[in-house]
Amino acid sequence: MEEVRFDGKVAVVTGAGGGLGKAYALLLAARGAKVVVNDLGGSFDGEGSDATPAQAVVDQIKAEGGEALANYDSVAEWESARGIIQTAFDSYGRIDILINNAGILRDKSLLKMELEDYHKIMQVHLDGTFYCTKAAFAYMKEQSYGRIVSTASAAGLYGNFGQVNYGAAKMGIVGMMNCVAQEGARYNIKANTIVPTAGTRLTFTVMPEEMIGRVKPEYVAPLVAWICSEQCNETATMFSAGGGYYSRAAIVEGQGVVFDPSGEISIEMIAGKMDQILSLESAVEYASAMEQAGTVLSKTNSGS
Ligand code: NAI
Repeated sequence: MEEVRFDGKVAVVTGAGGGLGKAYALLLAARGAKVVVNDLGGSFDGEGSDATPAQAVVDQIKAEGGEALANYDSVAEWESARGIIQTAFDSYGRIDILINNAGILRDKSLLKMELEDYHKIMQVHLDGTFYCTKAAFAYMKEQSYGRIVSTASAAGLYGNFGQVNYGAAKMGIVGMMNCVAQEGARYNIKANTIVPTAGTRLTFTVMPEEMIGRVKPEYVAPLVAWICSEQCNETATMFSAGGGYYSRAAIVEGQGVVFDPSGEISIEMIAGKMDQILSLESAVEYASAMEQAGTVLSKTNSGS
């Protein structure tokens, strides 16, 4: 296969001062992209700010012969998120790639979780992804070209103790990207989601030390770069990657059971068919909510 390049392309990577974002920024820049390295800095739980991490990544890119500039705005407010995207446009004249990656953690079990812990996580992950995507989409639509990769988590897809806030935000991002993909389809804007596993500042406290070396962010970056490329036509897809493992995750729906809606449908009838309701045999993946709704209607009409 020919080398995948990003010459002439402009990328914004949020939260690129360290961890996964840094690996994405370095790889895209090494392959020719001009990169806006955004990072607010600050602690892993979202306190404070620090320009050093983003600047250090820009310095590294430049030292390696690439082109990049730093931005220290937060993704978590509309005006500053819009400023991140505007920086790319003002400096480089376009924006082709947006990687929504910035993130923090405020892990606590549900009853111990303060409302602020919940809202802060929503603001950085879900709102931040929305703001950056909305701002970038306007330029991508004008260009009839765009690649958006947003970051979900197994904590949202599968659940994790102490991450009610984070899991909700991360699964919200999946839903958001499914809808953005549909709106972007006619403008050649692809929107996908990455579910990464990597040893970073966010996982140092929960990952055994011997595992951290095996799941370097650099292993996730090639997949993310590929789905940011012009050659990749995948959209509305969830990719899982970590430590050399690459896969697709999906939401599927079983064949289910249909009762005649003109008659009574009792609790006991539902309970009696629970095996069939729960079965994922011959489960299908729907391309849109409309397709799913059409299937539900046709099933209830035919009584199948
Ligand atoms: P990290 O802590 O190394 O990177 C996150 C970066 O985002 C930090 O540099 C931080 O300063 C920046 N950031 C935080 N709030 C920001 C804001 N409001 N505006 C701009 N930048 C901000 O952690 P890591 O692991 O590289 O995380 C990257 C993404 O991957 C996050 O969204 C995280 O939730 C997600 N993720 C990571 C997993 C892992 O195994 N490392 C697993 C699942 C998801």
